[in-house]
Parts: sequence; structure tokens; C-alpha cells
Amino acid sequence: MHVPFNLASDLDAALQSAAVAAGLADAAAFAPEVRTAEARHGDFQANGVLGYAKARKLNPRATAEKLVAALPATLRDDYNIAIAGPGFINFTLKPAALLTWLRAHATRDTLAAGAASAKKDQTWVVDYSAPNTAKQMHVGHLRSAVIGEAISRLLVFSGARVFRDNHIGDWGTQFGKLIWAYKKALAADPSALHATLAREPLEEFERLYKVGNSAADADPAVLDTARAELVKLQAGDAENLGIWKHINTVSLAAFQVIYDQLGIQFDVTLGESFYNDKVDRIYRELTECGLAVESQDALVVFHPEHPRFATQPFIIRKSDGAANYASTDLATILYRAEHFKADAAIYVIDSRQTDHCQQLFLTAQKWFAHRGWKLPYLEHAAFGTVTGEDGKPLKTRSGEHIRLKELLAEAETRAFALVSEK
Ligand code: ARG
Repeated sequence: MHVPFNLASDLDAALQSAAVAAGLADAAAFAPEVRTAEARHGDFQANGVLGYAKARKLNPRATAEKLVAALPATLRDDYNIAIAGPGFINFTLKPAALLTWLRAHATRDTLAAGAASAKKDQTWVVDYSAPNTAKQMHVGHLRSAVIGEAISRLLVFSGARVFRDNHIGDWGTQFGKLIWAYKKALAADPSALHATLAREPLEEFERLYKVGNSAADADPAVLDTARAELVKLQAGDAENLGIWKHINTVSLAAFQVIYDQLGIQFDVTLGESFYNDKVDRIYRELTECGLAVESQDALVVFHPEHPRFATQPFIIRKSDGAANYASTDLATILYRAEHFKADAAIYVIDSRQTDHCQQLFLTAQKWFAHRGWKLPYLEHAAFGTVTGEDGKPLKTRSGEHIRLKELLAEAETRAFALVSEK
């Protein structure tokens, strides 16, 4: 017996034939629209009857009844079928039919063969993990990594070509203070600095950042020097670029240890710095499309039709002329569309960035529509924050982030103890 892999499309086809068999008017135009149902309604529901019947001045419930009666007997044996509301048809698989399906698709190979057609020939970018460099990964970074990897594997399983893209934050304002502190430590005691950097490089850069940060807080002159270091870096100063590269190399090596532990391998790591020379085109594009306007020296995008984004600006160039998270993310969408020919991009970022994603996607929609380009399907796969018992983002007792490295090590030790005990 042939058991269809995709039950929803099987039902869809059966309802379409039923429309013909029942002699419904204009049957060829009937689209059953079978979708996965909310659990309380059953397994699948056909939503298309209502619209079809209304447009032809038919009674939707009577139409639904005719359709159900015209379904093949085998289907009526396999499902509990109920007509709900004004004309929805709900389908719930009977246990025996479910068991038959599970038996027919019980192995990885049969499942893969069935699923592989779903996203065949499609290119998906999965944007996940994406920590900022110069800092160690902490507990808050775990979920994006795990969820993003799970989504990637499901997409591969469904036949898609997947680019796992680690959009690291490697071009932030943190580098001004960090470079200032690095140079100061180097001047004070070069051999001590080199020794610590050789032993635990990322920990040392993290410590240096804190030194730079509190010094800049305490002394405006330090803040100015740190800003000047950042400007030099952005202008391509060789020494500062060298330090910056070193920091990123060290950071990526530390991230890689964790990715190896989690079984994650990125296809590309194109962080914010990669898009640095691509933002000018963004300013030009959005200005030409009439989307971006100057406001208090910054370049911003408003969305007049939106309840919040009509007044809450999407800043794409800061008032000091610098690029930011929004400009690089817009350049990223363009690059993914042009370079990867992406059909879709999934952003696995926590829900605190929901506004950013909505403004980003809305801006891209209008921009691409204006140009007549095909915009990849964009989705924010949002997740919540890992919190402690106080409901605040989880920290150690001393108020520090829990390092992912230590968390994973502890999980391993505890799991080992548990298994050994058994
Ligand atoms: N680096 C960012 C952060 O730590 C996440 C980047 C997510 N990806 C993106 N395309 N915006 O918050």
C-alpha cells in the first residue's frame, strides 16, 4: 500500500478531485488550502471552502458536506472528519492510520526521501550564533547556536542548499577602548602582556576592555583618546588594524572550541566588518528610493503606516557619519540576495531585537519593491532570554555572565556523573 509522505498535500489533492466528482460549479478554481491545524482542531484543516463558496453565492457548510461525501472511502476511513464553523473542514488522523504512516516512514532514509522534495533547489541562509568578538561567549549565546543549527539541519534534510552564516559583531565601538588599553599595557610591560596573551588571549582582551572602559568612564581625556583610536582603526591605520585582526583571530579560535563541542560548522563567517565597504551603496540606494531622510545629521528611515515605526526612526547612518548595525544588516540582505542568490534568510536572534528585525525587513521590502528586485523570504526566529530565578538575564552570584565554556564543561561533568552512577 502506498502511504503518502505529505499528508497535507495528499488531502489537498483529494479535496480537489472531490470538488470535480461532486460536480461543484467551477470546480477547477477551487483551492482547498489544507494546512496543519491547531492541535485542538485536529491535524489538518481545509480553509479554502469558505472563500470559494462565498464568491459563488453557495452555502459554505453545504458545500463542505458535499466535498466530504465525495472523498474516497479510504480517506474517510483514515480520518475523523468534522465540518467546523462556517465551513472549515477539520481532519484528525485515526490512531491506526497514524501508525501505518509512522511504520511506512520509520527510517531516516524514508523520511529523508519524503522530505527532500520540500525545499529542493532552494537556497537558505541561516544567520545564527553571531557573538561579538573580544568577549567570551556566555550562557546567552547558547540558544541561538543550538536553535540555528537545528533549523539548518532540518533545512538540509528538506532538500535545501544551506549557508550557515556566522554574522559576528567584529566592528563595534568596543575596539577604541580596547586598543587604548592594549597599547597602555604594551607600553608598561610588553613581556608580561605577551605572556598573558599567549596563555589566555581572549580572557586578557576581555580584561583589557574592562580596564579601558572604566578608565574612559573616569577620565574624559581617555575617552577622547579611545575615540581617536577607533577613528584611526576605521580609517585603516595599519597598527590598529593589526591589533583588531589579532583580537578577532583570538576570538574566533575560542568560539571554534565551543562550536566543535556543539557539532557546529559554519560555511561562512561574514561579520559586520565584511560589510563595512558596502554601506555607501546602502545610503545611496535608500536615499534614491526616497526611503531614507536626513534627520539631525543622521540618515534615518521611517515607516509612516506603522504604529510605532512612524515615529521611531531606523537609523542607518549615525550623526557622526559612522555605519551601524542597521546599515551593515541592510548591506547583508543585499549581499545574500546578489551573491548567494538566497531564496530565504532566517535570523536566529533573541526577541529583544524584534524591533530591529521588523524595521530591517520592512525597509528591505520597500527598497526591493521599488527596485523591482526579488526579496528573499526573511524571518526572525526569535527566542527568549535565559533568566535566573529573579527573572533577569542569568548571571553568576558575583554578577558576571556565566561563560558558555564553563557551562558546557559542567554539563558534561554532571551528565557523566549521572551516567556513571547508573
Ligand atoms: N552580533 C549580534 C548580537 O550579538 C547578533 C547578530 C545577529 N545577526 C544579524 N544579522 N543581525 O546581538
